[in-house]
Amino acid sequence: MKKKNFTRRNFIATVSAGSVAAVGSNAISAFAGITVSPKANGKLAILGGNPVRKNKPWPEWPYVDEKMVEAVSKTTRSRIWCRIQSENGTVPTFEKEFAKMMDAKFSLGTGSGTQALSTCVEALGFGPGDEIITSPLTDPGTLSSILTSRVLPVLADIDRESFQIDPDDVERRINENTKAIMPVQIGGQPCNMDRIMAIAKKHNLKVIEDAAQAHLAVYKGKKLGTIGDLGCFSFQASKTIACGEGGAVIGNDEELMDKCFTVQNHGTNRKGRTVVIGPKYRMNEFEAAILLSQFAGVKERFETRNRNAMYLNSKLKGFPGLVPQKFYEGTESGSFYLYMTTYLKEHFNNTPRDKFLKALEAEGVSLSPYLPKGLHKEPWTDHILSLREYQKMYSPARLKSYREELSCPNCDRVIDDIAMIWASGPLLGSTEDMDDIINAIMKLHENRDQLNQI
Ligand SMILES: Cc1ncc(COP(=O)(O)O)c(C=O)c1O
Repeated sequence: MKKKNFTRRNFIATVSAGSVAAVGSNAISAFAGITVSPKANGKLAILGGNPVRKNKPWPEWPYVDEKMVEAVSKTTRSRIWCRIQSENGTVPTFEKEFAKMMDAKFSLGTGSGTQALSTCVEALGFGPGDEIITSPLTDPGTLSSILTSRVLPVLADIDRESFQIDPDDVERRINENTKAIMPVQIGGQPCNMDRIMAIAKKHNLKVIEDAAQAHLAVYKGKKLGTIGDLGCFSFQASKTIACGEGGAVIGNDEELMDKCFTVQNHGTNRKGRTVVIGPKYRMNEFEAAILLSQFAGVKERFETRNRNAMYLNSKLKGFPGLVPQKFYEGTESGSFYLYMTTYLKEHFNNTPRDKFLKALEAEGVSLSPYLPKGLHKEPWTDHILSLREYQKMYSPARLKSYREELSCPNCDRVIDDIAMIWASGPLLGSTEDMDDIINAIMKLHENRDQLNQI
């Protein structure tokens, strides 16, 4: 199949006009008035019927090729395994190449996305008594990076349709101790960054972008990670650029990026002087070798995921049972680490989400929940509020209001209703693969009366 280049124009066209990408496919679309595929009728696979998809593997993830295997062998044989052994080793080379790819002046490799975020919190000088506002719908690593510096993480609620942090709630939660906002670009798609940057400017706050999931995504002409003061990425095995565990900070301010280097290098600067408190978070040469060796195909894979995501969106356009993640104006592309939708059970015979997902799995298509709970509901809050150090650092009045203001009702709803694809591998599939996803969903919808027999 000849692949068209992915451009801002065709992203917006497919998001808004939907049907463009649908032409010529075999997927059913009961809601576009197109004939329902014969596959859609009949007994559900979970009840013994024929599955929509059988014995067809999804594209595997993480990505592996011979060049990557070679790169690891070469690094092994070179005996240069640690970044301090060579100024021209794979880590410094990765940093130059990643900065270039992300349109940033500088990049710094770390051992994980959590470490990248933690490096930024330390380098910006935040510590006990300070507060950073972030989202409850994120990986625990976001939270960990704030707690490690004994900063108080304040969780703002999210928007129910975009799943992104709600700028109005961010602004409501700012107080005299607030030092930064850490917006999470969830799924790999952009937050409302214009609003977040305006709020940060108004209140004199720093912005550390948690772009751990958002490699190469673009908002209003800028790559995610380059909009705030610093941006952080994860290369954990499931991510769209992966090396097992790994991370990076990007930024344009040389002095600040030097501080980041010093922090992650156990407090020791580029001149070898040990000057500040810092952990050892250095990326190793094997991680950088795996990353560098996959860079050649990264853009093409990114474009394929975007094209497939827009195709799925076009097929679900107007379908009330599964509503794709809302994009903010100015979204030019996403990373599509996650392809996220909201499941509305009333359109599936009031079937609870978990039963719906099981029935879908039996048809050969995997959608899943994201987190079991929003992070505001995890027990760490009791832990820190009972710690002597937090009781010393924050006033009793602040800890009381903190506990009282922990609720994030939109996040609770989203947690219960999300149905999403871990998309790094699956969204590299063919149009036929995407049709299988849609056909399985539509089969369940057409035969929703059977769902209460599960
Ligand atoms: C949004 C987000 N933030 C932070 C992290 C932490 O990254 P890592 O797992 O590389 O430490 C992740 C990883 O899943 C993430 O998805």
